[in-house]
Amino acid sequence: MNISKRAMEMNFSPIRKLIPLAEEAEKKGVKVYKLNIGQPNIVTPDSFFEGLHNYKEKIVTYSDSKGILKLRESFVKSYKASGIDIDVDDILITQGGSEAIFFILMSICNEGDEILVPEPFYSNYSSFSIFAGANVKPIPTTIENNFHLPPKEEIEKLITPKTRAIMFSNPVNPTGTVYTEDEIKMIGEIAEKHDLYIIADEVYRQFVYDSTPYMSTMKMKEIENRVVLVDSISKHYSACGARIGLIASKNHELMNYILKFCQARLCVSTIEQHAAANLINTMDSYLEDVRIKYKSRRDLLYGYLKRIPGVVCSKPQGAFYIFAKLPVDNAEKFAKWLLTDYSYEGKTILIAPGPGFYFTDGKGDQEVRFSFCTNIEDIENAMIVLRRALEEYNKQ
Ligand SMILES: Cc1ncc(COP(=O)(O)O)c(C=O)c1O
Repeated sequence: MNISKRAMEMNFSPIRKLIPLAEEAEKKGVKVYKLNIGQPNIVTPDSFFEGLHNYKEKIVTYSDSKGILKLRESFVKSYKASGIDIDVDDILITQGGSEAIFFILMSICNEGDEILVPEPFYSNYSSFSIFAGANVKPIPTTIENNFHLPPKEEIEKLITPKTRAIMFSNPVNPTGTVYTEDEIKMIGEIAEKHDLYIIADEVYRQFVYDSTPYMSTMKMKEIENRVVLVDSISKHYSACGARIGLIASKNHELMNYILKFCQARLCVSTIEQHAAANLINTMDSYLEDVRIKYKSRRDLLYGYLKRIPGVVCSKPQGAFYIFAKLPVDNAEKFAKWLLTDYSYEGKTILIAPGPGFYFTDGKGDQEVRFSFCTNIEDIENAMIVLRRALEEYNKQ
């Protein structure tokens, strides 16, 4: 039976592919600290569940393919509070940020088109590009430069007649880098000069630390027609399973094409849209408390990593990840070994190997992503295990 070229080219998620090994380790009674995945362990706000219980309809109908008005209005209100001018008609609700990225790429790319993406990047960017028949063209960034963007000329050199867009997350998954206003403006200038879209994935927008200035790409009024925003409640409100995200853009011509994809999948879960619409009633203190929690976890994890001999990393200014270089020959081999051959006092750790966040072969071989979605105690224990494991691994 035939299997498509597309299916063969797809990669298994680097974040999820070691889970079976972790399960095996757990079956043997080993405690596995999971620092691999961006699933917040923070409690979802009460407002979400209130919204769920307030759904009193007798029939669970399909909803508008664009998303229910109440939800789109609630997003407009919360963007306004952050100084971002988005109207109800600029929004299409999607099944998480994932479907948003998928529909955008499907709408702007033909087979063989290219999307510029700063590397390392959220691994599903290449999966969704494969769906759309597009090729990721990586913009190299380095750990030494805290994964900030290279100069404009370097980026422009990568542009070909097939380039359609620059896509990036800000704050960046997997590095936690927050782009400066100058970097965002530079992306805007490049897009304007070369007639490209900007796909701005801001799903970690609420998690920026140390008063680092944050510039939403939607604030660039002069090029608003090029900007397509990806957003989601998954991380902001610790509601990953609700599958509620959105696409926002002032480019209504493009949005009208994207709407065809929204109509083809009929609608996003009606009840969960109602629940998400009530998130607007979440107390301001919720996000402030979450930010404080993540910041203290980041400080702890960073502090531990810095003290381990041979580890190179910088302090992330946003999101909830640290991307670090470890003193190992091969991060993937090390990550597997941790689960199959190692435990310290009955404990081990699950981490996401670096290569899965790169498109370029051979890059990230010594790097791993640590997520700090776990509690303080688990981070402390995980770091004790990591320090010992590195000593042991390098003795072999
Ligand atoms: C940068 C980035 N964009 C988009 C997503 C997709 O999230 P969701 O589909 O849950 O909204 C993720 C999930 O981890 C992510 O890290």
